Amino acid sequence: MGIHDEDLQRVKVESDLAGIVSQYVALKKVGQRFSGLCPFHNEKTPSFSVNADEGFFYCFGCQKSGDAITFVREMEHLDFVGAVEWLANRLGIALRYTDSSDGTNRKERQELSDLLEKTAEFYHQTLRSGKQAGKVRSYLRSRGFDSETVEQFRIGYAPDEWDALASHLGVATEKLEAAGLGRPGQRGGAIDFFRDRVMFPVCDANGVVVGFGGRMLPDGQQPKYKNTPHTRLYDKSKVLYGLHWAKKQIVHADEIIVCEGYTDVIGCFRAGLDRAVATCGTALTDEHVKTMVRFAKRIVIAFDADGAGKAAADRFYEWEHQHNAEVFVAAIPEGTDPGQLAEENPAALTEAINAAEPFLSYRINRVLDRADLERVEGRARAAADTGAIIAEHPNEVVRDQYLVETAQKVRVDIEQMRRLIVNPPPQQANTPTPPQDSPDSDNRREVTPPAQPPPVELNVLRALIHQPEAVSALVLPAMFTDPVAVEAYSLVTSEGWRDRVNDFSQPVATLVGRLLVEEVDADPVELVSRALDAVIHRWNTQLRYDVNDIEQLRKHQPIVQWLAQRQEEMHSDQTRAAAVEAIVEWLRTQPANDASTR
Ligand code: UTP
Ligand code: MN
Repeated sequence: MGIHDEDLQRVKVESDLAGIVSQYVALKKVGQRFSGLCPFHNEKTPSFSVNADEGFFYCFGCQKSGDAITFVREMEHLDFVGAVEWLANRLGIALRYTDSSDGTNRKERQELSDLLEKTAEFYHQTLRSGKQAGKVRSYLRSRGFDSETVEQFRIGYAPDEWDALASHLGVATEKLEAAGLGRPGQRGGAIDFFRDRVMFPVCDANGVVVGFGGRMLPDGQQPKYKNTPHTRLYDKSKVLYGLHWAKKQIVHADEIIVCEGYTDVIGCFRAGLDRAVATCGTALTDEHVKTMVRFAKRIVIAFDADGAGKAAADRFYEWEHQHNAEVFVAAIPEGTDPGQLAEENPAALTEAINAAEPFLSYRINRVLDRADLERVEGRARAAADTGAIIAEHPNEVVRDQYLVETAQKVRVDIEQMRRLIVNPPPQQANTPTPPQDSPDSDNRREVTPPAQPPPVELNVLRALIHQPEAVSALVLPAMFTDPVAVEAYSLVTSEGWRDRVNDFSQPVATLVGRLLVEEVDADPVELVSRALDAVIHRWNTQLRYDVNDIEQLRKHQPIVQWLAQRQEEMHSDQTRAAAVEAIVEWLRTQPANDASTR
């Protein structure tokens, strides 16, 4: 997977970051830079800054930073290559791929998705106006799917014929097979994979059709659902139905609703819950979760979590831990599902989603709902059952909180209840609890700002980034003491560093991202002189530690005095430049360039 370096550089150079950002948020020119409300976190006063000349952005609120590619990746939820392709498309740059098989690969995938796109259109048009589709249209209407819904979700109908699609597409049988749309028939030619079914096109996160779910009609052939078999584009353990339609809302709400099937997603949308997705005929996988947390950290399970949940409990906790996600469960009444609920009582569906509880709390409450707390035996039973559930949680702090709360509810002594929690899994015992604030909490995504290196060091780094010609010969490692600043210094003095900002540790990438959008607000040489002041101060202090008799101190006296004079000179505009140069010259002769470790 690689894009030709020349093309990648062209995309980087030609991308107009301010123009791209303006498509998402309003920017205002402030000095040399642009500023606006950050698209990555909620805020009311602008802390998002764009340095258009450098092509870098930084948010002073959430510390997100990067170039045009990073921005597009984040906003459009694309991978690196996807983001470069997105930009190249806008710029009219035809990308070449380094690995020629990669180009072929992409061409073949493109061919497949073209076929699937044509197929989606064919099924959809057949449903809208096909003569045999009348019965399907009335079936859908009877289920409450109006024409608006049919349009929105591009619902279609696969005709009740052996090869309606195959002959419509007129491509080689292998291509149909590769797309999961057909297979070779016994008498030559191709047979359609989907026949006489209501068709739900399944798209990837970018809206590219990758497969279908086909539901049988009331008098049709089993199975109830037929999904596209595994193909190069369709992997049921990764794909999430509805993601492309819902992603904007998901990000906005920082919440994703996960349902079981197609009709549930559509039901949620119709009830105004337009942040719902579904797995397509599989249980939730790790891959699904990985995809979901790219969009939102709060996952609301809207299917029978009692059934699925018992088996999945440890996986849910694992996901919460690994992906910093929060798994909530909506209590969908037994015997129904979001699709049905949306039809019968949309308010109840919304209510259930809004009242979703953390997974553990949901499970405890279901036990308590069924418990007979009026009788001693009932309370003992409830204590044992809830204790077993609490014991499964990997985090000690979380376990303890639920323990206290639950012991009260079942009216059992806390210590007695504690003894019920046998063999709690020891690993991850002290990991921090995922935040469990109320659903309407606004600051869920707020972040604490990282520790700041001394301003003197920041000033030098900033000068080094924006005016290297003025200061690069004067800046030395000895000027940096803060570990983040030290690493940042080695980054910004290396060749082609602007392309590698994101390879560095998060604090360094964040710091450099911020410095890139800031301006140098004083004479760069003067900024260097302040750093030298600090270096000399450290040198003097160290000397006092190192030297224990007067005789040795006297030996160092000339250099101490010489430095003091140069420091004086640095404070005056006329003599500063020469003094700075002299001190730097001297510093270079010091071991490891580092006065503090002498
Ligand atoms: P359901 O049987 O509840 O289907 O399965 P449904 O979509 O609610 O259909 P209606 O409301 O009865 O018309 C839930 C989901 O499980 C998957 C589908 O994604 C379905 O939407 N499923 C179910 C399959 O993939 N294959 C099956 O045979 C059944
Ligand atoms: Mn159902």
